[in-house]
Amino acid sequence: MEVRIVRKFAAADDICGFELAREDGAALPAFTAGAHIDVHLDGGIVRQYSLCNSPAETHRYVIGVLREPASRGGSVAMHALAEGSVLRISEPKNHFPLSEGATRSLLFAGGIGITPILGMAERLAALDAPFELHYCTREPARAAFRDRLAEPRFAGCAHLYFDSAPVSERIDLAATLAAAAPGTHLYVCGPAGFIAVVLDTARAAGWSEAQLHREYFAAAAQDHAAASGAFQVKLAASGRIVEVDHDETVIAALTAAGVDVPTSCEQGVCGTCLTRVLEGEPDHRDVYLTDDERAANDCFLPCCSRSKSPLLVLDL
Ligand code: FES
Repeated sequence: MEVRIVRKFAAADDICGFELAREDGAALPAFTAGAHIDVHLDGGIVRQYSLCNSPAETHRYVIGVLREPASRGGSVAMHALAEGSVLRISEPKNHFPLSEGATRSLLFAGGIGITPILGMAERLAALDAPFELHYCTREPARAAFRDRLAEPRFAGCAHLYFDSAPVSERIDLAATLAAAAPGTHLYVCGPAGFIAVVLDTARAAGWSEAQLHREYFAAAAQDHAAASGAFQVKLAASGRIVEVDHDETVIAALTAAGVDVPTSCEQGVCGTCLTRVLEGEPDHRDVYLTDDERAANDCFLPCCSRSKSPLLVLDL
C-alpha cells in the first residue's frame, strides 16, 4: 500500500523518525507489538523497519531508521526522503510477538533495537502489565525516542545506560537477569553481539529457551557467501534437480531455474523465504531461526543458508 511521510524528525544522532499515514486519512491495518513493515525503495531495495508507536493507533505507523553509510543503501535512501514523499510499504508482519500472558516482561534494547521494544513497552503499559525496559546506547545523543521514554506511563519502568558513563552506571546484566522466575519473558533486539550477551547471561542464570525472544535488525557478522561446495536441491513436487554453484545462493539458483520463492531482506533476518526441508542437512547461516529450529533441520532460509549434504530435498 502507499503511505505518505507526514512527519520526519530527528529521533537521535543519525536516527530519523518517520510518521507514515494514508493519504486519504483512512485507518491503517492494525498491528501487534513487535511487528515490522517492509518498505520498498527505488532500485528494488526492500527493508524491514519495526513499528515503534502504540499498537492501539490506527492513524499512523512510526518507524526509526539509523543511518548506516556502510550498509547496503537502504538507510541512506530513507534518510534522503523528505516529508511529503510517498512510500510503498507492506502490511505489518510480526515475527517478534509479545507473550501477553506473562507475569512480568523484561525488554532489552541496544541502539536502534529500541524500535520494536518501544512498541512492546507501549502495549505493556496500556495493559498495565509489569515490565522493565533496559535501553543501552553508546552515548546519550544516540538514544532514540528519549522524550517518549520520559513520559509518565514509563516512569520507573524505563532505564537507560550509556557506554560513555562510568562502569558503575552501566547495566549489570547478571544482576538484572538473576531472577528467572517462571512466567517471566525476556525480549531483546539490537546488534548481534548485544543480543548474544543478553541471551547468554540469561541462560547462565537459568532462563529457559521458551522464555527468551530476540529479533535481529541486521544479519550477524557472518559471510553468507562463504565458500562451501556446490550442491543440489531437489523440488519435491516435480522431482526436478537444481544445481547450486559454490558462489551462488539457493534463491539465485531457484530463480534462474524459474522457481519463485518470496524474499524480502535476503540476509537471513526476516523469515520471508522460509522453506521446508524434507531430506538433507541444511547449513544454517541465518539469524532468524532459533537454536531448536536449526537443530530440527526441517526448514531453512534459502536466501543465505546452504547445505552440508550433497542434496537437499525441498518442499517446493
Ligand atoms: Fe529474509 Fe530470506 S528473505 S530471511
